Amino acid sequence: MTLKASERSAIAPFYAMEVLRAANRRAAEGAHVLHLEVGEPGAGAPEPVLAAARAAIGRVRLGYTEALGTPALRARIARHYRDRYALAVDPARVAVTIGASGAFLLAFLAAFDVGDRVAVAEPCYPAYRNILSALGIEVVALQAGPEHRFQPTVELLDEAGPLDGLVVASPSNPTGTMLAPDQLARLAGWCEAHGVRLISDEIYHGITYGMAESCALAHSERALVVNSFSKYFAMTGWRLGWMVMSEDVAGAVDRLAQNLFVSPAALPQHAALVAFDCRDQLDAYVAGYARNRKMLLERLPEAGFDRLAPADGAFYLYADVSRLANDSQELCARMLDEIGVAATPGVDFDPRRGHRYVRFSFAGGEAEIAAAAERIVAWRP
Ligand SMILES: Cc1ncc(COP(=O)(O)O)c(C=O)c1O
Repeated sequence: MTLKASERSAIAPFYAMEVLRAANRRAAEGAHVLHLEVGEPGAGAPEPVLAAARAAIGRVRLGYTEALGTPALRARIARHYRDRYALAVDPARVAVTIGASGAFLLAFLAAFDVGDRVAVAEPCYPAYRNILSALGIEVVALQAGPEHRFQPTVELLDEAGPLDGLVVASPSNPTGTMLAPDQLARLAGWCEAHGVRLISDEIYHGITYGMAESCALAHSERALVVNSFSKYFAMTGWRLGWMVMSEDVAGAVDRLAQNLFVSPAALPQHAALVAFDCRDQLDAYVAGYARNRKMLLERLPEAGFDRLAPADGAFYLYADVSRLANDSQELCARMLDEIGVAATPGVDFDPRRGHRYVRFSFAGGEAEIAAAAERIVAWRP
């Protein structure tokens, strides 16, 4: 007799991880593969973070911490809001989580019920859609095109029907586009006026190329703000992030975190305490992404990739490839096969229009991105 498997788990894969698997397979066959598919900083955690981790082993009892994280890290994160955004955040409102990913699960469970309607602007980071779907929450996809700089607008929200939540990301993945502070303020005001919970994914804060970034807490008391040590802090594998909770859901998040995770891992929490003091090294990483961005903006058009979203931040270029191919999945497969460059097809981020787009990540080392540009220009699809 076959056993039942849940219908709610029938969500889409994260294709970037599937491309990574295909790229690794090509590499195992002997190909020299250049990785522009995953959004992972090429350099690892800064040296002081590594030193703090080494020092903690043997010196600190690495047991469970409190479910919402160590008081020291929660206080340090709260101070970050004062230092960076001039915002007063009570450490009691900070939840340390297992990456931004863990924060989404907690935020969505704390804020929404089965059947609620939550808007995301497509294209977007696929996990928003896939986690919401797995939780039985209806995903309302706002069709944000180049004319909206791929970001939600109050006009798109007005047309979306009744909503319970809105997820925004600025800078966004896959486009890198940002909401100007007044645009974020308008969206936050719309959410307040309509009783809609705003969830702001600020994981790419710190990685910007001239445009001002704004924290949703500056515009809304009740926004849930998600961030992580994965991107600016270059600590992907440490699996550590955080959420600034509004008071009305803080108790729910605490109870959910206790039951779902018991606590975030202790060692990364000790090490992350010093990450905020590594700005020089981390800003040098950002300067490297800026050089990669400049170089790809110059070189990709030579190969016909000339319709690129304005990458205000993050480390992605989202290219409209409809003049080069009908199906970006096939184009990415050919690119990997023929020239060993891995990139992510847009269907990951936009099930409706993604077949026309490819995302190039320039988070890797400068030599790798330059070599990829050479191969793509010589290839000319
Ligand atoms: C926009 C966005 N949010 C969240 C995440 C997940 O980050 P974390 O490693 O903190 O779980 C990613 C990872 O690529 C991302 O691009």
